[in-house]
Amino acid sequence: MTPLLEVTDLRITFRRDSGPPIVAVDGVSFTVSAGEVVALVGESGCGKTLTGLALPGLLPPGAELDATTHIRFNGTDLAGLSEDALRGYRGRRIAMIFQDPLTSLNPVMRVGTQIAEAIRAHQQVSRGEARQRAIALLGEVGIADPEERVDSYPHQLSGGMRQRVMIAIALAGEPELLVADEPTTALDVTVQAQILELLDRLRVSRRMAVLLITHDLGIVAGRADRVIVMYAGRIAETATTVALFATPAHPYTRGLFASIPRIEGSSGRLPSIPGTVPRPDQWPIGCRFHPRCPVVIANCREVQPPLEAVATSHLAACWWRRRRPGEHATGPGRRARQALPRRRIPQRQCARRARRRGCLLRHRSR
Ligand SMILES: Nc1ncnc2c1ncn2[C@@H]1O[C@H](COP(=O)(O)OP(=O)(O)O)[C@@H](O)[C@H]1O
Ligand code: SF4
Ligand SMILES: [Mg+2]
Repeated sequence: MTPLLEVTDLRITFRRDSGPPIVAVDGVSFTVSAGEVVALVGESGCGKTLTGLALPGLLPPGAELDATTHIRFNGTDLAGLSEDALRGYRGRRIAMIFQDPLTSLNPVMRVGTQIAEAIRAHQQVSRGEARQRAIALLGEVGIADPEERVDSYPHQLSGGMRQRVMIAIALAGEPELLVADEPTTALDVTVQAQILELLDRLRVSRRMAVLLITHDLGIVAGRADRVIVMYAGRIAETATTVALFATPAHPYTRGLFASIPRIEGSSGRLPSIPGTVPRPDQWPIGCRFHPRCPVVIANCREVQPPLEAVATSHLAACWWRRRRPGEHATGPGRRARQALPRRRIPQRQCARRARRRGCLLRHRSR
C-alpha cells in the first residue's frame, strides 16, 4: 500500500551571512499511512518542529529544503511545489496544531469567527452556514454549550478549551494528515489526557493520519502505532510502539525511557541523560550522541552510525551492536551496564504493559 506521506532525505539548512549554512535536519526519512499515528519523539532542539513545519511548507524565513529532499503526499512531491500550489494542501489536506493555542488564536476575534474563517478559506459556504458548521465543530471537539461558546473570545476559555478550538480550526479543512506539535505540553496532566483522547477519537471517526510530535515518550504508549526517535537532526531509532517499548535498541531511547516518571518508582532522583542536545553548528564528529552516551566504543567518536535494521521494522543508528568481541564500553560503569541490551520480554506481554504509561523498563530484566 502506498503511504499517505513519504518523506525521503529531509534536509533543512539555514543560510548564514558568513560561514557555511547550518544543517538543522539531516537526512530524515519516514512514512505515514492513512489513519496511522506516528510519534516523533526527542528532546528539545532535535529538529522535530522543523520536520513538522516542512510538510505543509511552513518553514521559517531563512530555512531551505535540500534539492535531494522529497515530501510525497498522496504521490505529489510537495518539496517541488510553488507557494501557490502549496496553499491547496496547507490547512486543507495537511493541518497543524501547536503547543500554545493562545499565541495561535487571534485574541480580539471571537473563536466562532476564527473557525468560520477557516471553513470559508477551504469551502465555498455562506457566513451563516460557516457559523453553523463552526458550532458543530465545537461540539465535535467536546466543548459544552457550543452555541454559547462560539461567541467567546480566547481569553474567556481555559487552556484545554483553547486547544480544542485550535483542533476545530485544524479540522475545518477536513485534513487527511494532522501534524500535532506538542499539543498538550502547555496543559495540566488531566487536560493533556483529555486532548490526547480527543485526537485519538477524531483520528478514528475522520480516518485521519496524525504525526504526533512530543518530547514525552510517556504519552506515546497505547496512542501511536509507530515511533520515530530523533536526536540532533537525525533519526536515532524507529520501530512499532510495542517493539520500541519492549526492546529499545538505542542508548538515547533507553535514556528517554529511564527519565519517564513512574507512579510505582522510588522516591529518589529521576535518572536523566547527562548534558544537552548540541546545537546544529556544534554537532560532534561521529555519533552525535557520543558525548552523552554511556556505552561509547572507539568507532562512535569517528564515524556516524548508519540507520540499520535490528529486527523486522525496527531500525537503530548505533555502533554498540557491532562492537568487536571483547570491546568494552568506555562510559561510566553503572550507566554502561544500565544501557546494555537486556533480555527480551514476550511481545504480547509488552503490548499489555505498553498501555500502562511508561512502565516497561521496570519490568525488563537483565
Ligand atoms: N528560525 C531558526 N533559525 C535558526 N535556527 C533554528 C531556527 N529554528 C530552529 N532552529 C534550530 O534548529 C534546531 C531544531 O529546532 P526544532 O525543530 O525547533 O527542534 P525541536 O522541535 O525538536 O525542539 C534547533 O537547534 C534550533 O537551534
Ligand atoms: S554506542 Fe556509540 S553509536 Fe551507539 S549511541 Fe552510543 S555513542 Fe552512539
Ligand atoms: Mg519543537
